[in-house]
Amino acid sequence: MAIIRRGDATVRALEGETVLDALARIGAAPPSSCRAGACQSCILRARVGTPPPEAQLGLRESLRRRGYFLSCRAHATEDLEIDDGDELRIAAKLVGLARLSHDVLQVRVLPERTLDHRAGQYVTLMRADGLSRSYSIASASDVEELELHVRVVPGGAMSQWLAYQASVGDVVALRGPAGDCFYSPGRPEQPLLLAGTGTGAAPLLGFVRDALRHGHTGRIVLAHGARVPAGLYLDAELSHLADVHDNLEFHRVVLDGAGVEGVEVGSLDAVLTSLVAAPKGWRIVLCGDPVVVQSMRRRMFLAGASMSDIRADAFVPSAAATGS
Ligand SMILES: Cc1cc2nc3c(=O)[nH]c(=O)nc-3n(C[C@H](O)[C@H](O)[C@H](O)COP(=O)(O)OP(=O)(O)OC[C@H]3O[C@@H](n4cnc5c(N)ncnc54)[C@H](O)[C@@H]3O)c2cc1C
Ligand code: FES
Repeated sequence: MAIIRRGDATVRALEGETVLDALARIGAAPPSSCRAGACQSCILRARVGTPPPEAQLGLRESLRRRGYFLSCRAHATEDLEIDDGDELRIAAKLVGLARLSHDVLQVRVLPERTLDHRAGQYVTLMRADGLSRSYSIASASDVEELELHVRVVPGGAMSQWLAYQASVGDVVALRGPAGDCFYSPGRPEQPLLLAGTGTGAAPLLGFVRDALRHGHTGRIVLAHGARVPAGLYLDAELSHLADVHDNLEFHRVVLDGAGVEGVEVGSLDAVLTSLVAAPKGWRIVLCGDPVVVQSMRRRMFLAGASMSDIRADAFVPSAAATGS
């Protein structure tokens, strides 16, 4: 079995154990959240030894080359000496905390150095004690200050801290950006379908801001899903954008809202196929609840969309066992 060294800590991985689990067993785990390869908060760097390729899936080539890997996906096949790769950590400051709705916060973060990000990607937000969670970028790519939308989760370590304890001026850190849910200029006429549930609207807002800024001329269909109409926390902003841009349609979709004017009732994945029945050739971006994202991806593919045209970020929550 492989031996893993992180600083002063050394552990022999057990059969079937990930690097993250092996380190957790001796109290030397790095921060983590989803434990499913979706959030990149558990990233480490192998200084000696080669991390398994499946633990590098989804990482940028430049990170893979330097030995970075996701410790929650790594079943080490050889001895590894690892460090935290502090070069990826960017000091930052909270510069704005405001409510967008009863359970969604707008968090504005100013990195100390320029982050080479694109709207719609996600960053890992790190508290001073290492608590780390990923959030998508709602601000346009040319804005240095990042706008994040954070749903306040009952008992949520990061979201409760942001909602009730954090203050403007607090020092945090960022890692990233990561993810490919961003607008790529070059095909201004291509139709775009953007769909998200809950705070999955944040990357879509960033995406659409960029598309409009670049003068996108093709049809843009943006659908936001929530349980009830009060969950459509970007209603005013997205309605306004749709009012002033003829090529942008905004659809509000709720599970429970019969009789409310201007909303479509149903699950977002089912409604999507009625909004765009033949998505072949469309660029599709799907964000938010992992189950809905997976279902939307499947439905769009079965309706004719090419997998290479579909970009998705599933907001996989932290695994219950994760302490940090
Ligand atoms: C790529 C990516 C992008 C993300 N972008 C955003 C974003 O833009 N905005 C945003 O608000 N969140 C986003 N998330 C989710 C975010 O990273 C956190 O998981 C979330 O904010 C909860 O963190 P917390 O510390 O407040 O709660 P935790 O302490 O992590 O969770 C407390 C408990 O609630 C459960 N829980 C947490 N969230 C949910 C949920 N949604 N549904 C069901 N159970 C849940 C946990 O499993 C845990 O048992 C994203 C996740 C990923 C992987
Ligand atoms: S990617 Fe490893 S904890 Fe999320």
